[in-house]
Amino acid sequence: MEKQLKSGHLVFVLYPFQGHITPMLQLATILHSKGFSATIVHPELNSPDPSNHPEFSFISIPDKLTESEVSDGDIASLVLSLNKNCAAPFQQCMKKILHQKCSHDHTAGILYDTLMYCAQTVADDLKLPGISVRTSAAATLLLYPVFPHLDGKDSISENEMPELRSLQLQHMRALLLQNPTDAMTEVRAAMTNGTKSSSAIIVNTIHFLEQAALSKVKEYFPAPIFTIGPFHKLAPTICSSILMEDANCISWLNKQAPKSVIYVSFGSLASIDEQELIEMAWGLANSKQPFLCVIRPGFVRGSEWIESLPNGFQESLGERGCIVKWAPQKEVLAHCAVGGFWSHCGWNSTIESICEGVPMLCKPFFGDQVLNSNYICHVWRVGLELQNKLERGNIERAIKKLMVDMEGEQIRKKAMYLKEKADLCLREGGSSCCSLNELTKQISSFDY
Ligand code: UDX
Repeated sequence: MEKQLKSGHLVFVLYPFQGHITPMLQLATILHSKGFSATIVHPELNSPDPSNHPEFSFISIPDKLTESEVSDGDIASLVLSLNKNCAAPFQQCMKKILHQKCSHDHTAGILYDTLMYCAQTVADDLKLPGISVRTSAAATLLLYPVFPHLDGKDSISENEMPELRSLQLQHMRALLLQNPTDAMTEVRAAMTNGTKSSSAIIVNTIHFLEQAALSKVKEYFPAPIFTIGPFHKLAPTICSSILMEDANCISWLNKQAPKSVIYVSFGSLASIDEQELIEMAWGLANSKQPFLCVIRPGFVRGSEWIESLPNGFQESLGERGCIVKWAPQKEVLAHCAVGGFWSHCGWNSTIESICEGVPMLCKPFFGDQVLNSNYICHVWRVGLELQNKLERGNIERAIKKLMVDMEGEQIRKKAMYLKEKADLCLREGGSSCCSLNELTKQISSFDY
């Protein structure tokens, strides 16, 4: 990538979970290649390994999180605690950075994960530009402004925006209503207010994928929006996995027929119970497709790993099944043997799959995964939903439909079509490439 003449120093603030750390480090890599120097500020939890990124400076700030806050699954409370606990240390850290940097690079802005909204307050205080980085779909930015009170009427008319109607934001609201907590309301408001005060918004998305949502987002947020996704294609080599990737699965994939393998992974946070694992295993085995399945330690509640599978299950599959604890997912999805992805629909997995033309079987677990699944199945039509509970017959039928049956042919074709469109966006003159050039100009033009 060509370097800009005017550079500067940027501070990136991480939200400390895999699905957020990776895209933020990718973004730092992209902007570094455009001539900016970078400091990565991160809470202590899940600290990234600085030796993987010698080009950046890293600063850890105390997050004072308790073990139960991290493990009990109440994400809204965790986000609240992180922002409350990190605000003061981050302010001090920024003062130090500004003091040290004044004779070198100027600090041109603070780029923070939307969930680390305390960084916007610090940026305002220090009169620095704050840039909100949404690592999920642009449509998630609508969830608060469209439904500020959860029980109110939404402001998307039934007659307009068919694409947004297919997204079923009302369905998302119903899910949020199942368990409305004060913490959730506070976080939704704080995130939205932070982003409303930001000087720019960056979204890890591709413009054509979310055209309708993006034009709606512009009605609510005054800052310019830059859609320079997918970050991983612009920064393909970074290493940011918290767990060790098992590269043996690539040798296994090399022995499989083209487009025959169903790849199964549910990201870094979702979990299932032992009975569900057994149903998954039999569903995969009975589908007769070769499968590569990621079972993260901790994915099966109450188990260390896969000890609840029946004795001899793995042996009975022979070479047809490969189970690993963590895979080099982007390489897996790009492998010619992979013909389908059974996914929890985390946003990173979703766009990684789109970019490789792999159709998806969707099993969302929580939060934005439901919205992403609606995008995949009802808006882009590159996947199908695994209806009902995890049961072996359902799973077997869905895999066959996705990968082999005529019924899935349109989905498979559409997935290849979207891959081609995504490729074009990344080329010179494509929407992501142009948006990145605009972003670098915008950052360089900030009056700091
Ligand atoms: C979380 C939320 O669950 C998700 O809904 C939100 O959109 C982002 O934050 P996570 O569950 O980890 O993310 O899912 P996802 O967004 O898909 O990110 C997982 C990342 O881990 C991907 O970049 C994927 O390539 C990587 N991964 C996953 C691996 O490298 N190896 C694996 O075995 C599994």
